Amino acid sequence: LLIRVRAIGLNFADLFVREGVYPNTPKTPFVPGLEISGVVESAGSSASRFALGQRVIAVPIFGGHAEKVVCPAVRASPVPEHVNLAEAAAVPVAFLTASYAIARAQIQPGDRVLVTAAAGGVGTALLQLLARSGAITLALVGSEKKIVLCRELGATEAGLYAEAGGLAAKYGGRVDVVIDAIGGSFFRSLWKLLDLGGRYVLYGFAAASGKTGLRRLRALREAASMRLLFPFGFVQSCRTLIGFNLSLLPREVSSLRSAMELVWDDWDKARIRPVLGPRFEFEALPEAHRALSGRQTTGKVLIDVSPDL
Ligand SMILES: NC(=O)c1ccc[n+]([C@@H]2O[C@H](COP(=O)([O-])OP(=O)(O)OC[C@H]3O[C@@H](n4cnc5c(N)ncnc54)[C@H](OP(=O)(O)O)[C@@H]3O)[C@@H](O)[C@H]2O)c1
Repeated sequence: LLIRVRAIGLNFADLFVREGVYPNTPKTPFVPGLEISGVVESAGSSASRFALGQRVIAVPIFGGHAEKVVCPAVRASPVPEHVNLAEAAAVPVAFLTASYAIARAQIQPGDRVLVTAAAGGVGTALLQLLARSGAITLALVGSEKKIVLCRELGATEAGLYAEAGGLAAKYGGRVDVVIDAIGGSFFRSLWKLLDLGGRYVLYGFAAASGKTGLRRLRALREAASMRLLFPFGFVQSCRTLIGFNLSLLPREVSSLRSAMELVWDDWDKARIRPVLGPRFEFEALPEAHRALSGRQTTGKVLIDVSPDL
């Protein structure tokens, strides 16, 4: 598909792509950009299910920071009429990642679920989906001003990272699930909070980042502080560690497209909404990157590319 871009959804992964450390990052020069919304300008013969002019979201992984993007049709989905096209760019990665993490963790009503980076793009999607699952959600964030948002989105408790143990103490001192986007030294303390039968979903490594982007030495230090886990320890403590990166699971692409239809259905029934963070014009894309790596944003950062669409 050739897509004329309406808006870009900025992702933390875009920062790592820019630094050249994201898996499969192309050689320079290349265009980064994981996620977009827009309108189909032309479609190849194998993409005939898309009409010209059709509104779509797409997750090309690379190449999305552009006015026009060519991407395989399998990575695109139609945007329903009732959905605002710019806001649609805030939906796929956040909600598909959140629903995949929840499915892998096999969350049951009453489970105590600890979520890190809870006020971010994926985090705010997780809070909304967890609120509907009947879980007890303990939201962790990096600054006081993000706590209110977590409560508004249905978190049972919300606090700073240093308060993780205190929040868990209100619910027996342990948690059933951790959904963690940060890793690094913090991983060890959260792993210790897992109860028997607990599941730890590790889906990001934000700990590698400093205020202005990736810090290689810091990344090494943080990775080393996670240390190796002793496999037999999993048996004795009945805990499970789950890791995933959706961009590396090509076999999931078509099931994710079906999952996208469920997400739109939830939107239609007003069960979910993307939490929109700061919005930038296309020319200000570097500023948007700085805002995201500076931990100043909540919700999803959007870039307006063609407001006329
Ligand atoms: N595995 C997958 O398939 C997959 C898919 C999408 C996203 N992800 C991961 O999910 C996470 C969230 O992605 P997102 O795009 O929605 O970003 P985001 O959550 O909107 O922004 C990243 C957040 O991470 C937190 N953070 C913690 N330590 C940090 C540090 N050292 N430097 C910068 N930020 C730090 C900050 O929140 P606080 O200040 O509140 O800590 C920051 O706002 C990222 O780690 C990303 O790589 C993984």
